[in-house]
Amino acid sequence: MKKKFIVANWKLNGNIETISNFLKCLKSKISLYLKYNTIVIAPSTIYLERVYRNIKDINIFIGAQDVDINQKGAFTGETSILMLQDIGVQYVIIGHSERRLFHNESNELVAKKFGLIKSLNLIPILCIGENEIEKKQNNTKKVIKNQLDIIFENFGEKAFINTIIAYEPIWAIGTGMAADPIYVQSIHKFIKNYINQYNTNNLENLIIQYGGSVNSKNAKGFLEQPDIDGLLIGSASLIYEEFLKILKISSDILYK
Ligand code: PGA
Repeated sequence: MKKKFIVANWKLNGNIETISNFLKCLKSKISLYLKYNTIVIAPSTIYLERVYRNIKDINIFIGAQDVDINQKGAFTGETSILMLQDIGVQYVIIGHSERRLFHNESNELVAKKFGLIKSLNLIPILCIGENEIEKKQNNTKKVIKNQLDIIFENFGEKAFINTIIAYEPIWAIGTGMAADPIYVQSIHKFIKNYINQYNTNNLENLIIQYGGSVNSKNAKGFLEQPDIDGLLIGSASLIYEEFLKILKISSDILYK
């Protein structure tokens, strides 16, 4: 059984009180779902260590929402991969569309971050996906190929071993308009086949999550698809009842 890979991306949300409450409630129920799900919580950098201390004994992981390309030095305001590693971070989200859009992050920059994370044996969660115009112009696969090719070019055919891919169509993020699960399944299949062309050993362990307006009402449709291996959840992951419902849905599917 391949566990579902569920990530809570809290973005720029939460404070000590809300996070403490969330973790308290989560911890009281989580044991039911850990058998079927690998769970990563990605709070804002400032709360990473607090969350880590809270969850390290229950087998939930913490993820950072981004990392700088420099390991140390005069880079005011940045967070280094060494610092993330130092406090117990295992996963790092990179290339999220909000970083690409609001911080002008290019495929090249994302590739550098990818290499840095891998070089320290942490696991990148590489976000890819098309925007609305690209979808309308039927360019989704081309965009995705470009986003993957730069990784292959820089890191070779084994690049996607121990890597998570999050397919997040930009038009579905934060809009309340989740993509159609059948459409997402077809894109995930395409991604797997594309990666498989280069490295056949990779496919079985490759995890591709879907992200974009996932909630407890639509999660089942995604998680039932054979090539949707998990979810990257934004706003619905801020409410623990909602997050737990999604974990239950995921567990129920695998329990059958
Ligand atoms: P959303 O965010 O679930 O709020 O759409 C998903 C994401 O950006 O990862």
